[in-house]
Amino acid sequence: MIARDFPEGFLFGAATSAHQVEGRNDGCDWVAWEAKGGAKDRSGDACDHYRLYPDDIALLRDLGLQSYRFSVEWARIEPEEGRFDAAELRHYRDMVDLCRKVGVEPIVTLHHFTLPTWLSASGGVLAPRSAELFARYCRQVAEALQGRVRWVVTINEPMILVLMGYLQGVWPPGQKSPGDAVRAARRLVSWHKLAHAAIRGVDQDMLLGVAKHWIDFRPLDAAKPVHRLGSRLQHHLFNRWYLEQVKSVSDFIGINYYARQYATSLLRQVPLATPEDPRTEMGWSIAPDGLRAALAGAAAYGLPLIVTENGIACQQDEERIRYIDSHLAAVRQAMAGGADVRGYQYWSLLDNFEWAEGYRPQFGLVAVDRSSQRRTVRESARHYGEIARSGRLPGAND
Ligand code: GAL
Repeated sequence: MIARDFPEGFLFGAATSAHQVEGRNDGCDWVAWEAKGGAKDRSGDACDHYRLYPDDIALLRDLGLQSYRFSVEWARIEPEEGRFDAAELRHYRDMVDLCRKVGVEPIVTLHHFTLPTWLSASGGVLAPRSAELFARYCRQVAEALQGRVRWVVTINEPMILVLMGYLQGVWPPGQKSPGDAVRAARRLVSWHKLAHAAIRGVDQDMLLGVAKHWIDFRPLDAAKPVHRLGSRLQHHLFNRWYLEQVKSVSDFIGINYYARQYATSLLRQVPLATPEDPRTEMGWSIAPDGLRAALAGAAAYGLPLIVTENGIACQQDEERIRYIDSHLAAVRQAMAGGADVRGYQYWSLLDNFEWAEGYRPQFGLVAVDRSSQRRTVRESARHYGEIARSGRLPGAND
């Protein structure tokens, strides 16, 4: 029998988020933002995953994947403040039940960037009661999914939301205010804490954690003290600060890793060291060792880890194959070094709505023709599925 590179039970899966794939998510702040020209495309029907999810989950399972990370949409579940829609809760329960029925482990995210418009209209994350409102919504979801879901991500990438929405102003609510950014970051800590307490009151077995975007910060020029100091400071503020606040009320840490960035001053960074460095279609550096470093760094918190996102936007599918292989090799190295990694969710199952960048970037294992909604399985999906089935990495030799 050939030895596996990953243990039995390791969850090889793929991820999506509601707004990026479902379509017609009209009650959320992003649709209003898109209507104002805040994104290169309108999300519109997206991948019509709201309707086509049974086919998409079957497809994921047939590829050989074992888990599906998706998000439930607050704007659908609570379309008006305090009114919870039983049919929408049933919709997501059906998704979870279908996953279980076909042998796919569901990993459910409660908040993935979008807010109901009634909340964004009254201040969004900074609204005085936003943490209580989030916790109340989480409790409803926990009641609907009680006993059915093990892995629950409360918040996806809180610090990216802060950066894009409150510092750079390129995502809703479009603010460029360091003071508000700090307040939003603190508030999102309360979101997780109150959500944790609310969910625990309903279901003691759900494993709760955040999906933390982790950037591998390095000095651009290691000979320059300000570059070195910048990379340490940014690492602390962006990667560690939030985790420090929530680690005592987390059962696992989700790591979303995409790229390395090079510090050029205390708070500035560039994505590439040199113009020749390998990069993705988004212009992000390709640095698999950064994923190993991220997992080794997060392992210090003493909690189980899941790679909740990692992936590449590219035109040539062979690049995706190389990206997956090299990043999985990095996961394996981190595990050999002692990190307790329980799974890897490729971003993304489908080509989808990439926020302000619209539909051009293609992250999918599966291509989507949005006029017919036809799905085409890419070679990389088959390749990844084979790794998932066998637990073996091509080219690994011990
Ligand atoms: C993450 C985000 C996803 C996806 C991905 C690719 O930051 O959670 O929604 O868009 O990046 O850019």
